[in-house]
Amino acid sequence: MARTALVTGGTRGIGRAICEALKAEGYTVAANYAGNVEVATQFTDETGIPSYKWSVADYEACKDGIGEVEAAHGPVEILVNNAGITRDAPFHKMTQIQWREVVETNLSGLFNMTHPLWPAMRDRGFGRVINISSINGLKGQFGQANYSAAKAGDLGFTRSLAMEGARKGITVNAICPGYIATDMVMAVPEEIRNQIIAGIPVGRLGETMDVARCVTFLASDQASFITGATLSVNGGQYMSG
Ligand SMILES: NC(=O)c1ccc[n+]([C@@H]2O[C@H](COP(=O)([O-])OP(=O)(O)OC[C@H]3O[C@@H](n4cnc5c(N)ncnc54)[C@H](OP(=O)(O)O)[C@@H]3O)[C@@H](O)[C@H]2O)c1
Repeated sequence: MARTALVTGGTRGIGRAICEALKAEGYTVAANYAGNVEVATQFTDETGIPSYKWSVADYEACKDGIGEVEAAHGPVEILVNNAGITRDAPFHKMTQIQWREVVETNLSGLFNMTHPLWPAMRDRGFGRVINISSINGLKGQFGQANYSAAKAGDLGFTRSLAMEGARKGITVNAICPGYIATDMVMAVPEEIRNQIIAGIPVGRLGETMDVARCVTFLASDQASFITGATLSVNGGQYMSG
């Protein structure tokens, strides 16, 4: 029977590509989203992948949402923690709300989604947790103290859980995308976008599928010896050890 994969923030951008790539590999896929019903409906119509609305920032909602997904599609064996937001501001102007919203979604969201699934993954002796962090979690970014802190936290979470899951057949890995041509990046004025591209050694923005292909590999049985890893997908823009 096909394994079931759950992708948070799966209805748009990178998450949508991850859902489509996993489906193409034969997985049963479910997507979660926060509130943009119109986009989610269009996603489900176009891909045939069901979408479920709840906030990853809300632990009880995650438990209930996971229960709904598992009742319909069987146990979730592959979790892709992709949902993320930005609330950018230079630190002297950053509000507590901007800090909290980003940390609660981009960092606590990983706890809220992984914690309810973890005991069953341990019992089954199999699991894949793939966390979408960011280049800016590795290097920091002006105006993103909240986002960079949360994304760096995702990497510590990844490594610690990798240690705990290793003997139970659960791998936990992180992917750090660089600039990917999603709506958000394409909305940047062309001149600034060209400046960004000039700073990327391969000379182009990433495609959502550049990230999605890494997810399908990490989800596969062939990747069973890879755990606690951080995979950069940034065209050479930032090379960390
Ligand atoms: N794009 C890039 O260049 C880039 C670079 C590095 C890292 N990343 C990371 O990659 C991930 C995806 O980015 P993206 O650019 O593809 O994002 P996006 O196009 O803005 O889509 C975000 C998705 O996350 C969902 N979402 C947001 N908050 C949520 C919440 N509280 N609960 C559940 N779902 C929530 C959104 O749902 P709604 O549609 O309902 O709002 C949407 O499906 C994020 O973690 C981001 O930080 C992106």
